[in-house]
Amino acid sequence: MGTNPFELHMERLPRTIELVRGDDGRAQLRYIDQRKLPYELETVETADWWVVVGAISTLALRGAPALGVAGAAACALEAAELARTRGEAPCDTGYFAEFDDVAERIASARPTAVNLRWGAERAKSAAHRRAAEPGATRADVAKTLYNLVKQMEAEDERANRAIGAAGAALLAPGSRVLTHCNAGSLATVFFGTALGVVYAAAAKGLIERVYADETRPVGQGARLTVWELAQAGVPTTLICDDMAASLMAQGKVDAVVVGADRIAANGDTANKIGTYGVAVLAHENGVPFYVAAPTSTIDPHLADGSRIPIEQRAPEEVLAQPIAGVDVWNPAFDVTPARYIAGIITERGVFEPARIAEALNG
Ligand code: MRU
Repeated sequence: MGTNPFELHMERLPRTIELVRGDDGRAQLRYIDQRKLPYELETVETADWWVVVGAISTLALRGAPALGVAGAAACALEAAELARTRGEAPCDTGYFAEFDDVAERIASARPTAVNLRWGAERAKSAAHRRAAEPGATRADVAKTLYNLVKQMEAEDERANRAIGAAGAALLAPGSRVLTHCNAGSLATVFFGTALGVVYAAAAKGLIERVYADETRPVGQGARLTVWELAQAGVPTTLICDDMAASLMAQGKVDAVVVGADRIAANGDTANKIGTYGVAVLAHENGVPFYVAAPTSTIDPHLADGSRIPIEQRAPEEVLAQPIAGVDVWNPAFDVTPARYIAGIITERGVFEPARIAEALNG
């Protein structure tokens, strides 16, 4: 136990995503439009699955664990819509032709974070199981999916708090932590993964300061990470991505903690573009590099990171106005080889990257 030179205020952080019932009893997804941060905290409410898909593709709603819940929630909205006018009808083949097609469109809204497909598939399986019960109606399936999403929201927060506790045990008093992108409360239902480690460590008085890479091109570090750390009262310094090397060389970073979008069976980890470079710099400077992620981010079907699909995004994210004759390459993620990772922090404890598949055994 140490002493922080600051007071931690977790109560100032909003919940990122939440399925609620509107006044008319209709299921609605409430989420923060993260494109507006850090200057506006705007919450959207929608009953339409396609609005959620749009929010996912435009990064209004992002971050792997939040995407897992969003995937299931969008399926729940579709089930609610299918039950709205014919709630007492059974779920026949016509019903599932439509529902499964929508579930696939939701699951494939973004390719890299495996949590999105995991969430949508979890909802799809729950729908099929409930519909197969004798006498089950469309309304029953809608209710089952609503309850599933509420359960997933609670599970996500619980997992993040467990990740936080496991990660805090790796940090010494007075730790200066560098992070890349936003793997904070805003990337989850609440609390965060990499920043969950920071918050749990701060609660134990172990944190001196967090350095946030701005994370070009979309600026999740500059807009989201610094916003939420400032809300929580954690001393924060924003740096441009190309400053991490100098900072580490000056001995100002004790640990790097980042999130993950997909972890292959050998521990290779996809995360926001630029993470690989940070890992190499950490290795060169003798700074431990940790990945913090729930087990829903592990993809045991991929032997190594070379098979992780990497999302390519629009050139406008890099270059607002096209320049004639100039092409833009804009991959949203890169893969950090397992050899650079000191440990993967999950809700089930800290694993050596090569043994990460064991985390799925319970
Ligand atoms: O494109 P984004 O903003 O969805 O990318 C997010 C990241 O890369 C995060 O670091 C990752 O999802 C982990 S979030 C706990």
